[in-house]
Amino acid sequence: MSDRIRTPGIDDEPEVRIHDARADAPDEDLDRSLRPPTLADFVNQEQVTEQMAIFIEAARGRGEPLDHVLLAGPPGLGKTSLAHIVAAELEVPMVQTSGPALERKADIASFLTALEPGSVFFVDEIHRLGRAIEETLYPAMEDGELPVVLGQGAGARTVTLPLPPFTLVGATTRAGLLTTPLRDRFGVCHRLEHYNPEHLAEIIERSARIIEVEVDAEGARTIAGRSRGTPRVANRLLKRVRDFAQVKDCGAIDAGVAVAALEMLEVDAGGLDRSDRALLETVATKFAGGPVGLSTLAVAIGEEQDTIEDVLEPYLLQQGLLKRTPRGRVLTSRAYDHLGLPTPEGAKSLF
Ligand SMILES: Nc1ncnc2c1ncn2[C@@H]1O[C@H](COP(=O)(O)OP(=O)(O)OP(=O)(O)O)[C@@H](O)[C@H]1O
Ligand SMILES: [Mg+2]
Repeated sequence: MSDRIRTPGIDDEPEVRIHDARADAPDEDLDRSLRPPTLADFVNQEQVTEQMAIFIEAARGRGEPLDHVLLAGPPGLGKTSLAHIVAAELEVPMVQTSGPALERKADIASFLTALEPGSVFFVDEIHRLGRAIEETLYPAMEDGELPVVLGQGAGARTVTLPLPPFTLVGATTRAGLLTTPLRDRFGVCHRLEHYNPEHLAEIIERSARIIEVEVDAEGARTIAGRSRGTPRVANRLLKRVRDFAQVKDCGAIDAGVAVAALEMLEVDAGGLDRSDRALLETVATKFAGGPVGLSTLAVAIGEEQDTIEDVLEPYLLQQGLLKRTPRGRVLTSRAYDHLGLPTPEGAKSLF
């Protein structure tokens, strides 16, 4: 299918991404090779896949493009994979770009006018679109029209170009940053949630078959339990555990091999790695458990604010280790337990 995917504008210009050396920082090659090709291969998120299957079948039956789709959720949960699946299941070409790559109105105009009718136009990081570009999208999404200003000054006039019918699939890690008018123009909105260990184990077993490594059920469960609820992390850890098993000549990956490898990687039993623990420890020791503001915390642990909000925090919040309050981030007693630190008396009243 990849021969049908064009990425003008980002092939030559590297996509802007949060720099992140963590295990769940995107690894494009690995992601691509392990991406599930069909809805049936897309593990979990049943309510998403069931609904998408119906919408896709209905659109195909009517011979119309699918309504615009917004996919939201933390990194590595399958937004890009789903966008590819939607195009594959619709059997239409997919053209892909990202919010930061669309700098000028002309950029988006050249994408939209060149689409083959019915195509999926995938815009990753759609929350990072500039306001002017976003406004160009409104009539394109709603009426299939593109207003273009010709000429300059007093002689300028606007003409409206008809566009080929298309489905916009937008992906975002920050649905909250989307403006209401843009959000309202998506007919289908899905929020992907973290995966439970059973589903992650299923993903690991499938990936193990693809990368040709032997892993038993307990080995897969062990890696799954430490994968932060995130398929991308599960795949990444599987690869690292495979390296470990190969070098130590362990043969198949069982629970013992997985634990030994993950300990070497400093991924603890709760799936937290060194950066997660550094964040929690900093809040505990430097800020007496909080509340501490995001910008102060970012400076204290030497991470970008975006990395904290997009990558570190979602899992810590979901695990009940950290809380967001109007005055800042606060550690929970669970976090103190996890770190093996006593919960301070004053902090207990907060939980
Ligand atoms: N439901 C799933 N079933 C099987 N594998 C999955 C699933 N979701 C994600 N994956 C795996 O995780 C990898 C990362 O997923 P993907 O790139 O789609 O995430 P994303 O949500 O787009 O992340 P980002 O926000 O960083 O762009 C995929 O290559 C795929 O191997
Ligand atoms: Mg993606």
